[in-house]
Amino acid sequence: MVFTTSQSSHPSEAPINLESDPIEIAPGTFWVGKRLPGQLFYANPYLRIFKGTATSKHASRAVEEFNLLIDSGSGSDFPIVREKVEQRIGKLDRLSAIHVNHQDPDVGSSSATILGRYAPQASVMASEETWRLIQYYKLPREQFVDVGQYLNGLPLPTGQMLFPVRTPFCHFVGAVALYDPETRVLFSGDFFGGLTALDAEGLYADESDWTGIRAFHQVYMPTNAAMVRAVATIRALDPPVEIIAPQHGRVIQGAFVEDFLERMERLQVGIDILDEEVDDSMLTAWTTVLNRVLDLARSYIGAEVDEFLQQNDDIHEYLHVDGKNVSVRRLGRWTVEQTVEALVLGQPEIVAAPLKFEAILAAEDLDLPAPSVTIDQVE
Ligand SMILES: [Fe+2]
Ligand SMILES: [Fe+2]
Repeated sequence: MVFTTSQSSHPSEAPINLESDPIEIAPGTFWVGKRLPGQLFYANPYLRIFKGTATSKHASRAVEEFNLLIDSGSGSDFPIVREKVEQRIGKLDRLSAIHVNHQDPDVGSSSATILGRYAPQASVMASEETWRLIQYYKLPREQFVDVGQYLNGLPLPTGQMLFPVRTPFCHFVGAVALYDPETRVLFSGDFFGGLTALDAEGLYADESDWTGIRAFHQVYMPTNAAMVRAVATIRALDPPVEIIAPQHGRVIQGAFVEDFLERMERLQVGIDILDEEVDDSMLTAWTTVLNRVLDLARSYIGAEVDEFLQQNDDIHEYLHVDGKNVSVRRLGRWTVEQTVEALVLGQPEIVAAPLKFEAILAAEDLDLPAPSVTIDQVE
């Protein structure tokens, strides 16, 4: 047997509320994240509760319940994640395992607190490559389960199987998604993650989510070739994936699964778009992007915008400023990124976030690569 585990509790039913409650996205599968209204970027941990099955060939030694937390998140989200998990399984010591897609702190740094303080018996599922880095959270090696050894199926003590799915360089070499064939949910990590439009409500992605997914992948994924390979791996899963549950953004289901898989195969990202050609038509396009941001900025912060542009000598090498006429002189994407960052410096998130998102949206409208703007989570 791969895991040690605890016996079950019986979670109570509760009314659904995105801010305070776990939300069931598939049978026994709960979104347990922290998401504040108007938040551009947030992390998604998921809780999967497996119940022992009498029909399993392992039934004779099957345990009653196996509680798996996928991509537990960071310390700043942990109090809410803990609260939501405990609503479903009772105390956190009933956690059987944590899966960590890759080593980034927003994915699984809270696993140190969870194992160190609340669930010392829980296993840590990750690839060997990921383990080499997350071991520095002081996680116990004896509880590490190398999911790379179970690509043909990871048997759970409750009788079900999980399928680790390698997605190399999406965005880490050792990134491993997790497929649950029973619910057909793929926990995809950063792959298919994204920023969320500020007015987006609810947990499920729609057409409006592609803008934020495109922007996130263009900044964080290294190259289209890695994504083409990962999409092919996902397409080969049997039975076919019905829900993609990413570590950022909204949950993808229904026709959007195939739609976004297709778009992902074509999307140019990272090094594909690093050396953008700087010609006059590109500068015109980036000028349009910048002016959309400036127009919105004037509606939020008024004359301060034009005073900033006139007084900030540093940017005149890159921007031509003549009254309210502003154009990009050189290095289109970089100049827009620098100007937006300088503009939102010191502004509250309620002003900064819409301006950053407008830059991303305008770039997409003109088929330009997404500008990289800071998308720190709101505390
Ligand atoms: Fe990451
Ligand atoms: Fe992430």
